[in-house]
Amino acid sequence: MNAIAPVPFVDLACQWAEIRDATLPEIDALFASSAFVLGPWVARFEREIADYLGVRHAVGVGSGTAALHIAFAAAGIGPGDRVLVPAHTFIGSIWGLLYLGAEPVLCDVDARTGLLDLDDAARRMAPRTRAILPVHLYGRAMDMDEVGAFAREHGLMVIEDAAQAIGARHGGRRVGGIGDLGCFSFYPGKNLGAAGEAGLIATDDAALADRARALRNHAQTETYVHGELGFNERMDGLQALVLGHKLPHLERWTAHRRAQAARYAAAFADLPLVLPAPGGDHVFHLFTVLTPHRDALRADLARMNIQSGLHYKVPLHRQPCLRDHAMDRDSFPVTDRIARETLSLPLYAGMPDAQQARVISAVRHFFSRGIS
Ligand SMILES: Cc1ncc(COP(=O)(O)O)c(C=O)c1O
Repeated sequence: MNAIAPVPFVDLACQWAEIRDATLPEIDALFASSAFVLGPWVARFEREIADYLGVRHAVGVGSGTAALHIAFAAAGIGPGDRVLVPAHTFIGSIWGLLYLGAEPVLCDVDARTGLLDLDDAARRMAPRTRAILPVHLYGRAMDMDEVGAFAREHGLMVIEDAAQAIGARHGGRRVGGIGDLGCFSFYPGKNLGAAGEAGLIATDDAALADRARALRNHAQTETYVHGELGFNERMDGLQALVLGHKLPHLERWTAHRRAQAARYAAAFADLPLVLPAPGGDHVFHLFTVLTPHRDALRADLARMNIQSGLHYKVPLHRQPCLRDHAMDRDSFPVTDRIARETLSLPLYAGMPDAQQARVISAVRHFFSRGIS
């Protein structure tokens, strides 16, 4: 047992403290009305989040993974189709493609931003490439003008993975609402987190929205009539209720995350660490640094009871579940470097300054011992 008080990687109790009083009576009302699956709370949250994102349609589903799966299916992606994706992302970005028998075409990422490298994507274009999946990883908005131009040039659909980036903007528009379809995760630890699993598909296209709405609900065209293979991926009323109470706080919580990120960046400016590059909007779902001494630094932090994360230590091209997919596994040098060197530091809305000060002094202490 470590006697020093822990610095948690994330602590969601501060969010609950802010919404508890308003939320509890409404949970009572939800239980009394039995609106457990879809229902009025989901419909209301869909309207509110569509408004926040600046899109015409929002479709609440069971998770971010389900959002992506249904978005791919709604876009008509099927067996043998190819989709360009970054090798540096969470596996949930591509499960849906694999379930549909489509081929994720892994691309390396940009060394500065860590986001999908469009030059590398261009080199990996092949027949039957149908779509591109910009992942706004860690909360950093990808340049959607560049993605849009690339997609138009190659005749691709754009499906955004905005699971980590709710609220981030590009060119004044919120990510996840710029491509043909955008997908969000409300996993509890996300910037906007539910009290369980939940996700969302956003789009301006009424036909895609209708298709996604049908697919999430067993592809039902009328009661107990199923037009195609469907999913049971409806959003829970309880999740929509909690999300609806958190949404009004999101901008303030994001501002707090940005302030914490700025404090880390200033405190580490003179250290031999690669910090998040400036430029591009960032909502800091994660604050990550790169250092060849990652494992030693992480062990040092753990000794001081400071939690940290590795996002992601095994990149997609080295995942055992993709072992049978043909690709040149040594053609992702930037992703491989990030996987070796990345370290995510504690940062969450409501994190006390004293906790952050402890992280800062621990990191500075590590490098003060002549490590470079
Ligand atoms: C980038 C990314 N894509 C997809 C997902 C999948 O979301 P979920 O965990 O809600 O299924 C996540 C979240 O874990 C994620 O971070």
